Amino acid sequence: MLPIQEIFHILDPKESMIFLKPIAKRVALIGFLFFISYTTVLAQDGKQLFQANCQSCHAVDKVVVGPALEGLESRGPWSDRKELYKWVHNPPGYMASNAYTQGLKAQYGALMTPFPQLTDPQIDAIVSYINTSASDKAKGATTGGEPSGDKAAAGEQQSGNGGLIFGIVSLVLAIVAFILMQVNSSLKKLSDDKENIVRPEAVPFYRNKIYIAFVAILLFIVGGYFVGKGAIGLGRQEGYQPKQPIYYSHKVHAGVNQINCLYCHGNAWESKHAAIPSLNICMNCHKAINTYEKGPKLYDEDHNEINGTAEIQKLYSYTGFKPGPGAVWDPSKAKPIAWVKIHNLPDHVYFNHSQHVRAGKVQCQTCHGPIQEMDEVRQFAKLSMGWCINCHRESKVDFYNKKDSSGNKFYSIYEKFHNDLKNGKMDSVTVKDIGGTECQKCHY
Ligand code: HEC
Ligand code: HEC
Ligand code: HEC
Ligand code: HEC
Ligand code: HEC
Ligand code: HEC
Repeated sequence: MLPIQEIFHILDPKESMIFLKPIAKRVALIGFLFFISYTTVLAQDGKQLFQANCQSCHAVDKVVVGPALEGLESRGPWSDRKELYKWVHNPPGYMASNAYTQGLKAQYGALMTPFPQLTDPQIDAIVSYINTSASDKAKGATTGGEPSGDKAAAGEQQSGNGGLIFGIVSLVLAIVAFILMQVNSSLKKLSDDKENIVRPEAVPFYRNKIYIAFVAILLFIVGGYFVGKGAIGLGRQEGYQPKQPIYYSHKVHAGVNQINCLYCHGNAWESKHAAIPSLNICMNCHKAINTYEKGPKLYDEDHNEINGTAEIQKLYSYTGFKPGPGAVWDPSKAKPIAWVKIHNLPDHVYFNHSQHVRAGKVQCQTCHGPIQEMDEVRQFAKLSMGWCINCHRESKVDFYNKKDSSGNKFYSIYEKFHNDLKNGKMDSVTVKDIGGTECQKCHY
């Protein structure tokens, strides 16, 4: 007997060898598994490409600078993929002869940047990412999920890739097992035929114990993976955009009227918290500005128009102020505004704004996105551990330069790095080098 047959004999040949008898079924199953892994590969690449190229202006389900890309293929000329390639490669050129995109330009104002460097398969990958994350979201909505968008953190992307490799390896092993079983059962049949042995009727695959055990274990592993992932994602809320008691627009204030972020969030320069400004700060201007006339039209999430003047009146009712001739301000009638907090790290994490904004010279927008373009603030970053760590691995600190005394003086004490820089052993110092990935720096 062949050694392979011996191995499979242990598993009881009668039951295990003949399952999924028709070859067509096996081929179909393998093909299906390939299809699944292929589309997830596409979606993974697509996610990275989307984040790198498109995310600054597009979201899947929200208007950012350009339109929401959900359901893209059912609009305009985009059901034809070739048209989409042409558009992404050269929007101004495409627009010249296409009324649909001219209409978009009129609606959105900005013009999309050209991406001549993106290949057709890369654009396919982006579309496939858009489609999968749109359908994920639809699923989330039917199960009452929060509007949290794509939760996978940058850090988990690595474990996601690990999962992908694990998936591919298991797939290959499964295929090898199938082929071996198939070879084995054919050999068995041949030898049976030759020796004229008549075997009892084969056990159908759904009653085959090995098959059932295999499926059960598979379900257990896959289920465990998603439960774990879901548990880590609990409390994360990328994309969170609650309704605030006053429709206060950052676009109007920080964008159109160019008010510096630190005018209202000055604490970010000095302390751990950026903090929300008190109503006194609003009243510095709104004692005088009691109507909203000059700025752009405002809309809420459901595209209902907002009356800016009425929103300023709400501010007055919170502050106890009566505008107009003979204006009165009665602080005893004032009541605090219950702004809904959007960004929320768990209690076990220490995060300090001044450390990043002042010492690290990180722009607010790097972490909070284009706030000056948002009417209502939306959580831009994941605020996951992977997100913090990835930036610490890449970002250089403002290291002290002994020659011209530039840079952050605090770092003059790092003798070893100064020597290494001098000897050319390192060319820059990252946050990781100064300990920015040590657990106790971020965890209480
Ligand atoms: C600089 C901002 C910007 C970037 C970056 C950008 N877009 Fe756009 N996109 C727009 C704007 C604005 C429009 C609306 C048309 C116009 O005014 O040019 C648009 C329109 C589109 C449309 C048509 C949408 C519809 O509703 O029919 C598609 C598709 C599209 N973009 C895909 C992409 C892809 C894919 C990427 C990344 C490779 C990308 N865009 C990157 C700004 C951008
Ligand atoms: C005129 C005052 C003012 C200015 C200027 C201003 N903000 Fe705000 N900001 C607020 C108020 C009020 C809130 C709370 C209401 C809200 O969330 O929209 C807020 C909320 C936020 C939040 C969300 C806080 C949370 O709940 O997690 C972020 C982030 C933020 N601002 C960042 C910025 C950035 C970045 C800039 C500069 C581009 C800026 N702000 C400019 C007044 C201001
Ligand atoms: C530095 C001056 C300044 C400060 C401080 C300021 N605003 Fe404004 N606000 C403006 C200007 C300018 C407009 C636009 C008026 C126009 O376009 O007619 C405006 C418009 C508004 C509007 C109507 C448009 C919209 O965003 O819905 C509201 C509501 C408003 N402000 C609330 C606030 C609140 C709440 C604060 C305090 C957190 C605040 N403002 C602080 C200058 C200021
Ligand atoms: C390195 C990333 C990073 C940068 C840069 C940054 N923030 Fe934040 N911001 C965060 C995180 C993380 C939170 C959540 C903090 C928490 O929950 O303890 C936050 C919270 C906030 C809040 C909510 C109130 C609070 O203090 O928790 C406001 C407002 C805010 N940031 C404004 C700003 C402004 C304005 C700037 C620029 C001057 C800025 N942030 C720069 C990461 C950043
Ligand atoms: C966009 C990049 C970026 C992100 C995102 C970021 N950081 Fe940082 N972080 C920096 C930089 C730059 C410094 C160095 C500041 C300095 O020079 O002291 C720093 C420093 C720190 C330090 C001090 C490290 C040390 O060794 O002294 C802590 C703690 C820290 N960050 C926590 C966090 C946490 C927690 C998060 C996530 C919620 C986060 N950071 C997200 C860029 C970032
Ligand atoms: C740069 C800052 C930073 C460093 C360094 C860091 N963490 Fe975290 N960690 C975070 C943040 C932010 C969260 C919250 C993530 C969330 O809300 O999902 C977190 C969450 C966690 C959690 C809860 C599980 C989760 O993912 O939510 C554990 C456990 C943890 N960290 C362990 C560690 C250990 C162990 C180390 C050292 C190897 C470490 N952390 C280093 C920022 C950091």
